[in-house]
Amino acid sequence: APPAKQGEFVGSLDCGTTSVRFIVFDRFAHIMAQHQLEFPQYYPHPGWHEQDPEEILATVTACIDATMESLLKVGWTRDSVKVIGITNQRESTFAWSRATGKPLCNAIVWDDSRNKNIVAQYEHKLREEGLEVEPGVWKNGPDGIEALRALTGLPLSTYFSAMKLRWMINHFPEVYKAHEIDDLLFGTLDSWLVYNLVGGVQQGLHVCEVSNASRTLLINTSTLKWEPCLLQFFGLRPSILPKIVSTSEVYGHIASGALAGVPIGGLVGDQQGALVGNKCLRQGEAKCTYGTGAFLLFCTGKEQVKSSHGLLSTIAFQPGPKAKPVYALEGSIGSAGSAITWLKDSMNFISKPSEVNDLAAQEPTTGGVYFVTAFSGLLAPYWDSSAAGLMIGISQYTNRSHIARATLEATAFQTRAIIESMKLDSKTDLDHLKVDGGMTNGDLAMSVLSDLGGFDVVNCACSALLAANAIGLFGWDLSKPETLADVNTRGVTTFSPALGKDEREKKWAKWQRAVERCRGWDT
Ligand code: G3P
Repeated sequence: APPAKQGEFVGSLDCGTTSVRFIVFDRFAHIMAQHQLEFPQYYPHPGWHEQDPEEILATVTACIDATMESLLKVGWTRDSVKVIGITNQRESTFAWSRATGKPLCNAIVWDDSRNKNIVAQYEHKLREEGLEVEPGVWKNGPDGIEALRALTGLPLSTYFSAMKLRWMINHFPEVYKAHEIDDLLFGTLDSWLVYNLVGGVQQGLHVCEVSNASRTLLINTSTLKWEPCLLQFFGLRPSILPKIVSTSEVYGHIASGALAGVPIGGLVGDQQGALVGNKCLRQGEAKCTYGTGAFLLFCTGKEQVKSSHGLLSTIAFQPGPKAKPVYALEGSIGSAGSAITWLKDSMNFISKPSEVNDLAAQEPTTGGVYFVTAFSGLLAPYWDSSAAGLMIGISQYTNRSHIARATLEATAFQTRAIIESMKLDSKTDLDHLKVDGGMTNGDLAMSVLSDLGGFDVVNCACSALLAANAIGLFGWDLSKPETLADVNTRGVTTFSPALGKDEREKKWAKWQRAVERCRGWDT
């Protein structure tokens, strides 16, 4: 065999909600090798969703090994991979022991809504007692709610990590005890992965990247620091918290396995990673990723826009430890791809997710059916954990194709609801939306989105660029979008609305009525 070639590549480890992917890219973001594996999900009760932290680690190792094996097979050396970046499902909450490095319980996943009562208790506390924003200065009532939002950019919701951590401390005796005796380490998935990849308990490297930290309800998004008054309010010890780090720097080196010695140079929440990957780096550029859920992020540049219309004000990325962060407005939809998985696994309507497009295409309309996929309440812009899944307009005439089509429409209507809020908050119009994620492989899903949204949908995708930025690889510089001009954005397709305005507005009004009917059900 000819001697192996030496390349200069970057690895991207994408740890999503249901699967792990490891991809090796060249300087143009062409894929050199890749592997993807699913890992087990646990749904022990309605509204609960857990993952085993050790199973995630094992899946990560298996994915890295399989990708590296393919890279070697096509003739490249192992040390062609110069740096890796990690992008991950956000908000999912991990708790482990400082003494042993072992998990204290399963992770509670972002779309788990078991903590509804805790959210209600803290909302009551915020209104009645209030938040001590400065020594002796208390904000309560509507001012309390506003103070929390001003500090964190977030509403009180089941979605964010602090509420999941509080549930763990209240309900898992091991976590309660570890918190009491100062043995508890809290983290988001990036924290758990870095801790383990660089050597676990021996190294004790406990970090959390800033875009991930901005989803905990515990940081001040202006100072980028953990906020003492919030720790006090939620009754959490500061020593459980990781050190906040930037999105692009070398955090440590991989301790063992196929990538031993390779630096980890980028960490980012997956939705913020997709914003960067779609090169939405300038104020006013937006993307929506249709995965398990759907997440629309609108870049607001160096300016932090606080939403008055139900959106999150989140940190998009901080391109280095001393750099200023870039902010985004976000609208999060809880169930998008997961509703299609439900059609497949629970309803047996289809045998693989992509078939939803063929099934829906058998009917030109939903036959009057509207489906509000509020499987764990509604997130943006409604923030209503009392909302329940609702299908309305069903008759003897309704068939599986109508329901499949109504499922695609549900995501499109929720996208429009978010865009309406974004227009009001940012005072700018959106003429096109960049999209990526599993659901965007279906042309019908994308035409429905364009028809009901009334804007152009541009389907393009490429990888996270942050790790290469950290070590100056390839001359990619996030502060200079022109350096990314050659980076691959594969297969751009544009979908434009075909549905007339009157019809679109009629359907939109009906959808809003359906949403009103599903609220307040689950109290
Ligand atoms: O906020 C949750 C989000 O990060 C999950 O992303 O792509 O795994 O659905 P995804």
